[in-house]
Order: sequence, then structure tokens, then C-alpha cells
Amino acid sequence: MKKTKIFADANLAIGEIDPNLYGSFIEHIGRAVYEGIYEPGHPAADKEGFRGDVIELIRELGVPIVRYPGGNFLSGYDWMDGIGPKEKRPTRLDLAWFSTETNEFGTDEFMKWCKKAEVTPMMAVNMGTGTIRDAARLVEYCNHEGGTDLSEMRKANGAKEPYHVRYWCIGNEMDGPWQIGHLTADEYGKKALEAAKVMRWANGEFKGDDGSDWATDPLKLIVSGSSNHEMKTFPEWDRVVLEHTYRHVDYLSMHRYYMYDAGRERPLEDFLGSADDMNEYIGTLKATIEYVRAKVRSKKRLHISFDEWNIWSVTAPRTEPLWKKAPHLLEDVYTFQDALVFAGLMNTLLNNCDVVKLACLAQLVNVIAPIMTKKQGGVFKQTTFYPFRYISHAARGETLRTFSDSDVFENMYGTARYINEAVSHDKNTRSVSVSLCNYAQEAREVELELRSFGDLHAAQYLEMTNSDLLATNGFDHPDEVKPHENELPCVKDGKVTLKLPAMSWSLVTFKY
Ligand code: AHR
Repeated sequence: MKKTKIFADANLAIGEIDPNLYGSFIEHIGRAVYEGIYEPGHPAADKEGFRGDVIELIRELGVPIVRYPGGNFLSGYDWMDGIGPKEKRPTRLDLAWFSTETNEFGTDEFMKWCKKAEVTPMMAVNMGTGTIRDAARLVEYCNHEGGTDLSEMRKANGAKEPYHVRYWCIGNEMDGPWQIGHLTADEYGKKALEAAKVMRWANGEFKGDDGSDWATDPLKLIVSGSSNHEMKTFPEWDRVVLEHTYRHVDYLSMHRYYMYDAGRERPLEDFLGSADDMNEYIGTLKATIEYVRAKVRSKKRLHISFDEWNIWSVTAPRTEPLWKKAPHLLEDVYTFQDALVFAGLMNTLLNNCDVVKLACLAQLVNVIAPIMTKKQGGVFKQTTFYPFRYISHAARGETLRTFSDSDVFENMYGTARYINEAVSHDKNTRSVSVSLCNYAQEAREVELELRSFGDLHAAQYLEMTNSDLLATNGFDHPDEVKPHENELPCVKDGKVTLKLPAMSWSLVTFKY
């Protein structure tokens, strides 16, 4: 059996893992909001209409931050439509998803939901049809104490205290011709800069004459980067946008969905190469950020917000008519094989935790999501639920640099490793977690060398494997694909040997 050696050392860390790496996303699209997180009258819903069964699963996933309200929806959305008495809110056409938006759920409902779900809100301002004034006013509505029309409106709408929203995306995928109000990099860069300025000012971010900063809670602003690396404008878009905005923002956003070609016109290897490709993509943007940092002579380090990532193979084409409220959209059912690639993508995020300080699994409920709901019915966990749930709990603290001699396979992106790993170290809990994907069609042996930790013992060994790569979960077979506990391996002289089944994902946690 082929053996791969992986070495990690307690003193060689890539960086701190920001808990926001395990964020997610709820857009006004399909059944993400309506029938997803919000379904008044559902047996598990509270008096606000928030489904408790869904919140329970979100807690189980360990999601700390949720991006809202879009997505492509954002670029046609007037946030004022979604506040005030529900019966007075307008019903509108959503031109992004050809649906009808009733606006029953808006900013205040989202804030209440976040409180209940114990997640941090990550808001977004419309840079498509929206103006910089709309953006500043939304910040004022959310964050200003009181005494102005908008802050008093918030109070009248039930929120006496400001929401103190810190994370704000300035637009969504503005490089995409599919975006309502799509702009060139130069146009967007200029607009994003002006939006950033007025948003900060509306948040009371003012520098005194003595240089003192008056803001107690400065905004964390996220500028819209490339929608994917296949865009003709990549990475020039990112360079131009950053040259306009570098000094005024905190994160560059990036998005990417990986796809399995079910028609088999592309080999499976192309799908299995996703994690290593994502690594290259992040690497290019890291370099772009560094280039602009040098060019604008800034000492500030900008981070990446990978605020849309997932697998999206378009396995659930639209069947419902246009302009329906909450149509079944993008309800992909994930396979076991999807979960393997998904785990590799999580490994990549961890291995880039020095620069990726925020990431959002897109999306969270019903729409390309780990959680699926039935109207007036139950919930089930998709195959991808499991790697997210276990990695988000286990991979804390810092990611360690690994040295591996894995062999590689060719794919459309270049080469990728058969054994894909991420090793994390949590000093607080004295634990080391190793997430391992075996993308080979045969079992592989892996020798882990973790000598620097001294006396180490395995505390948990999860394994996900299935004879059917295309196996799924569903309402009538909810537990078809899930990890099982393995017999704990022995650690000898800081070394441990694991046997990884063909096409599998494993997570081993050690304590010292
Ligand atoms: O998550 C689905 C869509 O994918 C989002 O609305 C958009 O930002 C991206 O293209």
C-alpha cells in the first residue's frame, strides 16, 4: 500500500484560525429565508416565525457569523422596503432570481434572528441600483444611537438599542455581467471608496485634529473582489479595486463554487482537484493584496473574506414558474463525493488562515446548503453538513504548516495531491486535529509525524467512506452518508500510522 508521510511541528504555524472562517450566508433567494429560517405557523417556529429546528442545526454546525441579504439579490434591493409594519411593506419583483419578494423579512427580522441563533450579522449594501447615500443610511439605521429620523425609525420598529453591526460587504460580485448594475473595476473601485467613507462617517468614525479616533467600534469593510478566477477580469479587477480602496477597507472578498460534471464530460479528477485549485486562487489574491499594499505604501495588512464558497453542480434545475414567492431554487442534493471535495476545500481555507480571516459557506439553508427543510415538515442534514460540523469544532487555534510527500494527479487546473490535509493546534485544549482526504481510488497509508508535541494520544477518529460515491441523504434516508467513529490509533514516538480507505475523509484529534 502506498504510504504518504506528513510532518507538522508545534512551533511552525501558518497563523491563527479566526473563528469567522466558519461563517455562512443567507440570501433572499429560493427557500433560504421563507420556508428556511423563517416560516410562521410551522410547529417548530417561535412567535417571530423563526424555525427552532433550523436554528438548532445551525448551532450544531458551529456557524459564528451570517452574511445577509445577498448575493445577487442585494443589487436590486432597497432595504427601506424591508422595515416597518409588515402589512405596509411592498411586494416587488426580484430581478436577480425572477421571484417575488414580499419583504415580510427584512433588516430588523434578520437582527432578531441573529440574536436568537447567536450569530454575528454580516450585512451588505447595494452597489448595483443602490447609492452611497442608501449605504450610509442603512449604517445609520443600524448603528446610530438615536435622535435622527432613521435611528428613531429603528426604535419605532422595536429596536431601542443600536445593532452595532460591524461587518459590511460593499456590494456583491460587481465584476459579473449577471449583476444588476454591474460596473467596471474602475467604476466600482471609485464608488466603493466613496461608500466606505460615508459608511464610516455614518458610524461616527471621525479622526480628531489630534489624530484621535472617535469611533469605539469601527466598521470592518469588505470590498467586492473577483467572483471566480475564470473571470476575464481576474486578477486585474482586484488590483484596480484595491488601488482605489486599500486604505479604507479591511477585507477583499472572493467567491468560488466548484462543480462536478455529472454528464461525465469532464473526468472526476477535475472535481477532485478543487481544493488545490482553491489554494492557487487564494495565493494569487494574496499576492495581489501584497502588490497593492506596496504600491500604496501602506503598513496595513488586508485580509480575505472568502464570503461565498461551496460546491454547486446545478443538480436541481428550476422547474417552477417565474415570479413565484420562495420557489425551489438551487436545491442541490449533495453526494458523498461532494462531501469529500468539500472537506478538501475546508482544508484549503485552514491552510490559508493567515490571510483568509472570514469565510462564508454559501449558503446555509435550502439553497446549495448543508441544511434542508420541508414546508410544514422536518429537516435533514446534507452530506456536506458533516465535514463542516466536525472541522468547525475541531480545527481551532492555529493551523500548522505541513510537509507532505503525497503523490499527485493531473487535472484541468494542474496537479493536485492525492492526500490532502490540514493540521490544527489548539493550545487551550491541548489538542491537535488532522483532517485528511484520500482522493485516490485505493486505500492509502499515512504516517503522521507530530513528535514536537511529546506525549500524544488519539482522542477521536472519525471516518467518512461509502461504497457509492453518489450516495446522498434525504428526508426518507437522512443517515445514508455520515461519518463513523473508528478505533483509536496508537501513537508511538510521536508517530502514528493511519489507513485511509479509498475516496474517504478522516478527522483525527489528538490530546497531549
Ligand atoms: O449563492 C448563489 C449566488 O451565487 C449568489 O447570489 C451570488 O453572489 C453568486 O453568484
